[in-house]
Amino acid sequence: MSTESIKVLMVCLGNICRSPTAEVAFRNEVAKRKLEHLFDIDSAGTGTWHIGEKPDKRSRAAAALRNMDLDPLQARTMAPEDFHHFDYIFAMDAQNHSDLKAMEPNNAKSSVQLFLTWPNKADGQDGYQEVPDPYYSGEEGFELVLDLVEAASKDILDHIIDTHQLS
Ligand code: 4NP
Repeated sequence: MSTESIKVLMVCLGNICRSPTAEVAFRNEVAKRKLEHLFDIDSAGTGTWHIGEKPDKRSRAAAALRNMDLDPLQARTMAPEDFHHFDYIFAMDAQNHSDLKAMEPNNAKSSVQLFLTWPNKADGQDGYQEVPDPYYSGEEGFELVLDLVEAASKDILDHIIDTHQLS
């Protein structure tokens, strides 16, 4: 196996709710399997409104109840270099996916994937094809995000472990 890290980027609209939650869920799954030294994990937004902000306090509170710490994160927007740096770029919903495809250069390193249906999962995670935007929802929207991204992180890591023969 190459010694280069496997670079994974989670992307949503604001980078304050879904993608930071997915970043930490995936990071925790990687840590559970003691593979931290092999990964470089980050998140970003397609929008610019929340640059520099911590994750939404509702996301932080819901995540904290599952021992996930979102506090150190800071929102950023997608940069052109991201398409050359990351091996996997995961979009939380179809709009994020099409926004990313519109920004993607011809010589991008990775191709953009929908987080819940990669690889080739027609039914998606628990029947969801996309992680619903919780920004205007109640608490249950944030719980749903956590349920979906925690389950998908396990599946995605299984697949990456197989693909890169990490075990
Ligand atoms: P996210 O949620 O894309 O999961 O971070 C949102 C955050 C902010 C807004 C929309 C969605 N907003 O309209 O400001």
